[in-house]
Amino acid sequence: MKALEEKIADRSAEIVVIGIGYVGLPLVVELAKAGFHVTGYDKDPRKVAALSGGTSYIEDIPTDVVQPLVAGGKISASTDPAVLGRADCVIVCVPTPLNKTKEPDISYIVSATEEIVAHQHPGMLIVLESTTYPGTTREVMVPKLTQGFALGEQVFVCFSPERVDPGNKRYGTRNTPKVLGGSTPACIVVGQALYSQIIDTVVPVSSTDTAEMVKLLENTFRAVNIGLVNETAQIARRLGIDVFEVVRAASTKPFGFMPFYPGPGLGGHCIPIDPLYLSWKLRELKFQAKFIELADQVNSTMPSYVVGIVTDALNDRERSVKGSRVLISGVAYKKNITDMRESPAFDVIAELERRGAKVEYMDPWVPEVDEHGVRMKSVDPAASFAPYDVVVIVTDHDDVDYARMRREARLIVDSRDVMRKHGGAGHNIVGL
Ligand SMILES: NC(=O)c1ccc[n+]([C@@H]2O[C@H](COP(=O)([O-])OP(=O)(O)OC[C@H]3O[C@@H](n4cnc5c(N)ncnc54)[C@H](O)[C@@H]3O)[C@@H](O)[C@H]2O)c1
Repeated sequence: MKALEEKIADRSAEIVVIGIGYVGLPLVVELAKAGFHVTGYDKDPRKVAALSGGTSYIEDIPTDVVQPLVAGGKISASTDPAVLGRADCVIVCVPTPLNKTKEPDISYIVSATEEIVAHQHPGMLIVLESTTYPGTTREVMVPKLTQGFALGEQVFVCFSPERVDPGNKRYGTRNTPKVLGGSTPACIVVGQALYSQIIDTVVPVSSTDTAEMVKLLENTFRAVNIGLVNETAQIARRLGIDVFEVVRAASTKPFGFMPFYPGPGLGGHCIPIDPLYLSWKLRELKFQAKFIELADQVNSTMPSYVVGIVTDALNDRERSVKGSRVLISGVAYKKNITDMRESPAFDVIAELERRGAKVEYMDPWVPEVDEHGVRMKSVDPAASFAPYDVVVIVTDHDDVDYARMRREARLIVDSRDVMRKHGGAGHNIVGL
């Protein structure tokens, strides 16, 4: 333990990050900036080739930052798990998706752990960062990593949830406090030694299970509050009240209220998925996580709800969805990013197409799409909005010319309330 702590303190510890995606790459960069030699190990040869060449493929990480670190020998990348044999510290950032029946798929964590075991040696710190249900580190990783290695003496195992907020200009890796749970008190000491090199505030908690639960609470909090406000939108519509005006006015209360805004549905890798990791775990314990399941139900109806508004708005203009030309404005799951994972845009497109609409999309951040059975190229953002029967704003990217959209479009269904900043209500604008 002492030797490992010393290597971390003098930055001679070799670090391998398994999985260099949205979570792993920022970590590689931050550790390299702190002076460590870091190897990004990934099965995806395209990411490895890009990183080896000093190029970033994540928009929050500029190539200008990566390039000198690669050129200076601080960062390397590999598809070969043998790099784990030289590692003192391994950070696991692999995906944790849901399978087809909406159950946790922890197979990536299992295979990454098996790769570590195949190259394990005494004196290693292993940290899992992938979001997962409470108990994963203890039940899935620790038994494999302690075959022949004493926990807290020869192998140190921690869980530390990632809190990346893509596109956030204020909070990045260093200034976002980081929760850390260890399998033993010694594990947390070693884990803290590493993270305090790159994170301003490390928040230790009593166990890996607790740290896993912290992440799920954070994301469940968002999912439930978004579910509440999405239901409020449906209620307000029936009452003829503008939900966005209600939320904005409520948020002037300086205490006891936090604004969440309704929208076309959840998106991204975390909020739609993570709470279901928790409800799955609880079902095993014969407990039903009612808030989580209700929020999932409400949030997953939102794309259909938006299509319903489109249908009604066309109907009011004596048009049917069938045969109408529809332009989806924005397919990324949130504004000013390229990430389309779990984007509600795909459900909106699929349902409109099922109803016979001719759908195209325009997204300055996403030039083409080949996902969820949708294969399309973006319409030129400079093209006219006039030929479409309706423009549906799904993602409110900043760099769209909303003033021109307002002038040219015959009908706009604005699920993000972005037109409020561009002239407010209008005869051709329908809100959520
Ligand atoms: N994206 C976010 O904003 C975010 C935020 C917080 C937490 N998380 C969590 O972090 C984890 C990773 O998410 P991400 O967005 O970085 O995913 P990602 O898909 O961008 O990256 C994961 C990478 O892991 C690689 N990989 C998978 N199995 C591997 C293996 N056995 N060996 C080597 N490489 C392997 C994949 O090729 C991929 O490049 C998930 O659990 C996610 O829920 C993500």
